[in-house]
Amino acid sequence: MRVAMFASEMVPYIKTGGLADVIGSLPRALTEKCDQVDVFIPYYREIERQNLPLRKFNFKFNIKIGSRNYKGAALELKSDLENLKVYFIDNFHYFRRRSHLYVKDGQDYRDNLARFTFFCRGSLEVIKYLSSTEIYHVFHMHDWQTALIALYTELSNFFHKNLPTRVYTIHNLAYQGKFNRSQFHILGIDSSYYDSLEYWGKFSLMKAGILFSDIITTVSPTYAKEIQTQKSGVGLERLLRKNKSKIFGILNGVDYTIWNPETDRYLPSNFSFKDLSGKARCKVALQQHFLLNENPTIPILSVVSRLAWQKGMELILKVVPKLLEQNMIQFVLLGMGDPKLEYQFNELSKKYPLKAGIALTYNDYLAHQIEAGADIFLMPSRYEPCGLNDKYSLRYGTVPVAYKTGGLADSIIDYSSDLKRGTGFLFDTYDESHFLIAIKKALKIFQSKDEWSQLMRRGMRQNFSWQNSADAYFKLYQTRI
Ligand code: ADP
Ligand code: GLC
Repeated sequence: MRVAMFASEMVPYIKTGGLADVIGSLPRALTEKCDQVDVFIPYYREIERQNLPLRKFNFKFNIKIGSRNYKGAALELKSDLENLKVYFIDNFHYFRRRSHLYVKDGQDYRDNLARFTFFCRGSLEVIKYLSSTEIYHVFHMHDWQTALIALYTELSNFFHKNLPTRVYTIHNLAYQGKFNRSQFHILGIDSSYYDSLEYWGKFSLMKAGILFSDIITTVSPTYAKEIQTQKSGVGLERLLRKNKSKIFGILNGVDYTIWNPETDRYLPSNFSFKDLSGKARCKVALQQHFLLNENPTIPILSVVSRLAWQKGMELILKVVPKLLEQNMIQFVLLGMGDPKLEYQFNELSKKYPLKAGIALTYNDYLAHQIEAGADIFLMPSRYEPCGLNDKYSLRYGTVPVAYKTGGLADSIIDYSSDLKRGTGFLFDTYDESHFLIAIKKALKIFQSKDEWSQLMRRGMRQNFSWQNSADAYFKLYQTRI
């Protein structure tokens, strides 16, 4: 079986969130089952700067966007695995920007539709070129940036003869790829398609993925159910319910070659569930990094997150100062995003310099060091399709306190309701007082050393390996080819 996977981010080349982690791992895990997996992502400026050993094709293509032609090329990267390749789709104007992948100064790029239309159409041009030697059986698209591939293959004579199974994975239904009607012409398709993609007065690329794919997946079983409800369906719940026979929830895995405290190269000291002494050293190093009081007994509460509405940072800002005021905790946060939240967290660190450490940046090393050195990880997400940091935290013995939603509900077992199997603390009413109650329960157990270490160790032994998830995807592919 030959699979083409399309996404806008991929570890280790480019990352803004969990999508990149998934695309860095899932194709690798699938190579054990499939004959060949090819991943297509844009050739961003950050990737160009990595000087990867890329092979340029002689093949070039032109894509008409509006009234202009844009030239494109593809670069091939052979991975360390024989049956995994990455194809970077290149266009200087669209992808080699200095700023963030999707936004500048807090606003989406005005030409995001054109950029990702170019990416989708360009990827298909490259696939046509590659198909002279081999046929793809599965096209697997991720999120709105690649959803148009499902639609274009439907319309293309070339693909129609041998239509691959189209799988569309929703990582976050709320990021829809919504655009004004005045931009519809950019897609280069008949205007009669507008009605199918229409979404509350605009059009949505997410809808294209849902309508024109054979299989829809989301990144946890609970989120697969949630998106079919009015509360979490962001206006697409009826459409999703209509398509429910093709919706499947598959929990993301964790790449334990990257996120493993026994081997993690970013840590000052490694550790395992058998020997936790290294974790204590990581805690001291974390306190030193953030210039906090060096105190091994005070619990460190932590956050690594995009600072966005989804992540519920307002609850943290309500609860954490109270605990800091009472000298019950230290707090560290790594995150960036919403300027207002950034300002508020900055103020918090000014107010409690020896107790709260705030890094308003993106830093891979620090993300690992926080996972390792902290005691408790906070995830009061309003919704969470899967969530990866909770799973990383479990492996690093950093007990999660989280809202019972989406993939958090599927990964964390609440200790208060199940003392034998519990791995963290869940609250199921979304407000400040329930969040505080859950944190206080955790802080209470923290005081009892043996009980806490059993709880940590149980979490560390959980296994969210990609093999299980890749297996589930492979079985789904097989049902349709
Ligand atoms: P989402 O994709 O919604 O942001 P996930 O929990 O799936 O949430 O994944 C977030 C990923 O991004 C994790 O790998 C996390 O460590 C990483 N991350 C988020 N913010 C930062 C940051 N400021 N610095 C480093 N890594 C970050
Ligand atoms: C999205 C979701 C997150 C998920 C990630 C990877 O960014 O917000 O919950 O873990 O995609 O699937």
